[in-house]
Parts: sequence; C-alpha cells; structure tokens
Amino acid sequence: MVVLNSAATAFDLLGKRSAIYSDRPFPMMAGVLMKREKSMFYISYNERFKMYRTLFHQSFNPKAAETYWPLLEREAISVILKIIETPQDLFAHLRGTAAVVTMKIAYGYQVTGNDDYFVTKAEESMRVASLAGAPGKWLVDSLPILRFLPEWFPGAGFKLQAKKWYNQMYTQYLEPVQYVKEQLKSGTATSSFTSRLLQPENGLAADDKLEDIIVWTAGAIYAAATDTTVSAMKTFFAAMMLYPDIQKQAQAEIDSFMDQEGRLPTISDRHRLPFLEAVFKELLRWHPPSPLALFHRTSRDDMYKGFLIPAKTTVIANIWAMMHDEDVYPHPERFDPLRFILVPGQKPQKNPLDVVFGFGRRICAGQEIGEATVIAQMMMALALLDISKPVDEITGQVIEQEIEFTTAIVRCGISLESGFIETQFISSAILNYSKSR
Ligand code: HEM
Repeated sequence: MVVLNSAATAFDLLGKRSAIYSDRPFPMMAGVLMKREKSMFYISYNERFKMYRTLFHQSFNPKAAETYWPLLEREAISVILKIIETPQDLFAHLRGTAAVVTMKIAYGYQVTGNDDYFVTKAEESMRVASLAGAPGKWLVDSLPILRFLPEWFPGAGFKLQAKKWYNQMYTQYLEPVQYVKEQLKSGTATSSFTSRLLQPENGLAADDKLEDIIVWTAGAIYAAATDTTVSAMKTFFAAMMLYPDIQKQAQAEIDSFMDQEGRLPTISDRHRLPFLEAVFKELLRWHPPSPLALFHRTSRDDMYKGFLIPAKTTVIANIWAMMHDEDVYPHPERFDPLRFILVPGQKPQKNPLDVVFGFGRRICAGQEIGEATVIAQMMMALALLDISKPVDEITGQVIEQEIEFTTAIVRCGISLESGFIETQFISSAILNYSKSR
C-alpha cells in the first residue's frame, strides 16, 4: 500500500501515469463475494469501464451538466424554504434534497416523501456497502482462502450475508431502470440519464449489454452524489455558524448582486461572485468530503524516483494531507476564504478543486454536477438566511458548539453538541426573490 501525501506526486502518478494507476483494489467481502466487479466504483480499468466513463461524460460534461441547472436551482430554493420552516431538521432537509436531485438526474423519478420506496432502498444499499467495505470487519478480507468455505460451514455465515447483500443491491439498481422502461413505454418518462440512454436519439433501443451497463452506471449516481454534496453543505452551515464575519462578507456580495440585478443569483452567475467562489473552495479544502478519495491500484510494476511500486499496489491519495499541507496552505486549520482571493502582488493559494475531486482517469465523474449543486444551495442559503449559533430560549445565552466530523470514505456526518444550528430567514431577500419571479 502506498499513501501519497503530496498533490505533486499524486498528479505525477495518478494523473500523468494514469494508464498504470487506474485500477481499483477489489476486496474479498465487498467485491468478490458480493459480485461487484461491474460496480462503477470497483470496476478495473478495462473496456467496460471506458464505456461507463463515456456515458458519464455524455451526460455530465460541462455543457450537458448545464441542462440540470434549473433543477438544481429549484431544489436549492426548495431546501432553504424547508429549512426556514423547520431549522431543527436542517440535516434531514439537506439529505432529502440530495435524494430528490439524484433520483431526478438518474431516473427522472419524483421522490414521493420521506419513506419513498426507491430512496429507502438506495439508503439501505449505502448502509450495506459501507458495512461490507468496513476495513478489518471481515476476516475473509485478510484471509482470502476463507472464501472457499462452503456456505453451511460453521463460521461461513459471511458468505450467505454477501449473497443476500448482492441480491439486495442489484435489485436496488435494477428496479428504477425497470421503472424508466415502463415510463418510456407509456410515454410518460421525463428526461434523465437512464431514459436518454435507453432511448438514444438515433431511435435504436438499447440492447441487453447496454442495458446492463445502464443499470450499473445509473445505480452509482445515488451513492456518489448524495453523501458528497450533503457533506459539503453540512460543512458550509458549520463554517457560516463558526465564522460570522465571513458569512457577512459573503452575504454582502450576494446582496450587492441582488441590488444591481433585482433578482437572486443563479448558477451561471457564479463567476461574478468571487467571494462566494472562495468560500466554496475553502469549504472543500477545510473539510474535503472524500478525504482519501477512492483507492487506486496499479495494473503493472512502475518505478518512481527510485522506488519500485509493484503491480496490484493499493495507492491512496491522501487528499486530507494535501489540503492541510502548511507549506501550501498556511494555518490550514483556519477557515479562511481570503486564501483564494486575488490580491495585487500576491499569489492566491493553490486551487483545491484540482485535488478534492480525485485524480487521473478515475477523477470524479460528476464534478460539474457536484459543484453546481453545492454552489446553488450556498447562494440561496446566503441570500435567504442568517446562520448563527443556537440561543438558549430561556436565558438568551448563545450555546457554544463543538463540531465533530465522522470518519468514513465520505465524511458525511457532522455532530453538533447541542444538535442544531440556528437559521433565521432574511425576509428582505425573499421580497427580492418574488420580484425576480
Ligand atoms: C462535492 C461533491 C463531490 C465530491 C467532493 C466528489 C469527490 C469524488 C472523489 C474524490 C472521487 C474519487 C476519485 C478518485 O478515485 O481519484 C469521486 C469519484 C466518483 N464520483 Fe464524485 N464527488 C462529488 C460529487 C459527485 C456527483 C454529484 C456525482 C454524480 C453525478 C459523482 C460521481 C462520481 C463517480 C461515478 C465516481 C467514481 C469514478 C470512477 O471510479 O471512475 N460525484 N468523487
């Protein structure tokens, strides 16, 4: 196993030599026994994988991603309105919105509520994937020979478990695609990643092979897009609560935009809001949603600066270390968007967006959508809310917050000591909003 702690080395190996560094490790429990060699996250760097990336590229390249902006903007307003109603459910609202957005993008499916059938199944699959992939949990991962034990053998319960989980996850991938097929048949399908691939513009229906590829690629979208964007938004709310001056500065920029334009900003206005952009970069640097990316693996031996890196080496890009390297980002623990503001005579610090989405041929396949999702929600939150520490209702005292982040492949959890952040609705902004409608 090789851990890369510097971005320069990661660019050299995972980027410039990506023909060698683009496989994924394939664990026994979560991979072999759960038959996930076709999973977008586990698939080797082979012809099928290239097909996966082509489909993702067709749907999520910068131009194509723009077609999702209206959906992302609508849902950004909708989530803020929900937060205004029940701020104590902030995290649940963020998660619910991520589910709505991803189900629409992947399948054109409208989520029906908190206990939606497809969302419940998708959430359950994520729980199972995380249990199956937990390092050190399964003896078979360290002693691969155990996979040959018969299922009935005492202690081989993990094999039955893997089979059950495979069926569960595969059904969760399959059912929404069946749903889209039915919708296409009845002429009621809305445009989505799946519907466009099942019924390409050339009029030819997808054959069985392509359909299988669609099942596995569309199925990856929920897992890839929800935790990551929710993680970034939770970090955003935490940062705005902890750094009120930065919040004020970001709000001032948005207010001045709204004064000039007489409307709320949209995703296309992102580049006219440099402070917001700096907050976004700093957010992902300060607490990258995926601090170790997904692990890469070498497909053959390689020599680098005198080191032999053998075939099948697991290579971990330690994004956390890269984003907290004191030489690149002085006082890395500080949340300071000014690092990325252009000041005459001073060089801004390196752009974290070049790192936090991963590297080479396995770089995030939904970066444009991920960025636009978070930017839209940040814009609306800053335009419509004041975010602050909670206040004790009786004493009127501010309740100080200790923030802790979870550790996982995607660090989606933040726990707050008193469990909530206070948000206050800025009524003048909604007036602006109604005006612009
Ligand atoms: C803030 C949001 C997001 C962040 C920070 C993020 C980050 C990442 C990272 C670090 C990786 C691993 C890259 C590597 O192994 O080198 C990854 C992979 C991936 N991401 Fe994202 N992601 C985000 C949102 C999304 C969204 C919205 C989608 C889909 C629409 C998506 C789809 C994927 C897929 C499919 C992969 C696997 C790529 C492969 O194995 O070839 N991500 N992402």
